[in-house]
Amino acid sequence: MIKVGIVGGTGYTGVELLRLLAMHPHVEVTAITSRSEAGVRVSDMYPNLRGHYDTLAFSEPDAKQLGRLDAVFFATPHGVAHALASELLDQGTRVIDLSADFRLRDADEWAQWYGQPHGAPALLGEAVYGLPEMHREQIKTARLVAVPGCYPTAVQLGYLPLLEAGLVDAGRLIADCKSGVTGAGRGAKVGSLLAEASESMKAYGASGHRHLPEIRQGLTDIQAGAVSLTFVPHLTPMIRGIHATLYSTLIEAPGDLQTLFERRYAGEPCVDVMPPGSHPETRSVKGTNTCRIAVHRPENSDTVVVLSVIDNLVKGASGQAVQNLNLMFGYDEATGLSAPAVMP
Ligand SMILES: NC(=O)c1ccc[n+]([C@@H]2O[C@H](COP(=O)([O-])OP(=O)(O)OC[C@H]3O[C@@H](n4cnc5c(N)ncnc54)[C@H](OP(=O)(O)O)[C@@H]3O)[C@@H](O)[C@H]2O)c1
Repeated sequence: MIKVGIVGGTGYTGVELLRLLAMHPHVEVTAITSRSEAGVRVSDMYPNLRGHYDTLAFSEPDAKQLGRLDAVFFATPHGVAHALASELLDQGTRVIDLSADFRLRDADEWAQWYGQPHGAPALLGEAVYGLPEMHREQIKTARLVAVPGCYPTAVQLGYLPLLEAGLVDAGRLIADCKSGVTGAGRGAKVGSLLAEASESMKAYGASGHRHLPEIRQGLTDIQAGAVSLTFVPHLTPMIRGIHATLYSTLIEAPGDLQTLFERRYAGEPCVDVMPPGSHPETRSVKGTNTCRIAVHRPENSDTVVVLSVIDNLVKGASGQAVQNLNLMFGYDEATGLSAPAVMP
């Protein structure tokens, strides 16, 4: 049994970590932080967790206390892990960061997109990008893992087989993506109110979203060369879920694309390639750590359309964080992550 802590336990990804770890046979959550709710019992704030964490209460973040644990998750806004990660690593604690703090390898590029200087550039060299389907071996021995963002997970897993095989024009990729409102976090914002976000849909960040450099970096690694991507995210009136519609143009005779995808993801516990002609639904992955994918080639043209869906709070955040923890501590990768989706 390992002991873990969560910094930022009152947000949506924090409570999702608690829900997933309640079912994990090898993990005990012994510390959970919130500055605003310090002293409040977890089960008083989140009744869905009654019976699972009845003695655990939120506390102020304390690096000394957290540094006695085997691993600490950061489910915090960007900048928080920058300030604390180094102190925890020095005490031998492994760090799994759900924020964007260590996702970009270039500190200047990070500063440009996040509007503040990078707070821990010395750690960038050792941070491992936690997309297991790409970096499984490095994750196993990592001390510091940067869990990919939600859109970047759906987009990279959708394009991965095509780019690895060199089948499509990497200079003309288009990712048209939709997210549910929990993607914006639990903090009160006018745009997340029921009367603002329901029965409507809008694009945002069309001329530049913070996930763009992260997706571009990942696709460039896969392609082993430059990539040009148009990425347009949209806010949709659902609570959880990401739907990515990914367009690309063939430059090689593709052979059987269905077989390509099935072979690439054979044995991957958290990616499901659907049968030919399928259209994956976000509700089919609700609450699960699965990325469900379908590949289409409309009218046998040179356009490939990949449909990729995830739950933004699970494979797009907390579930993927637990998948990384499992790899780092030598557990079966899908431990605690195999429950099917909630339907309807
Ligand atoms: N929501 C998603 O779908 C999603 C998906 C992938 C990744 N992420 C990333 O995951 C992180 C957390 O997202 P979220 O949606 O769960 O956020 P959230 O709902 O806004 O929650 C943020 C949490 O961080 C704590 N916090 C805020 N400032 C802090 C500070 N300076 N020091 C310590 N704790 C602090 C808050 O508690 P107190 O203020 O009480 O301390 C709260 O518990 C973000 O970086 C986000 O970009 C989110």
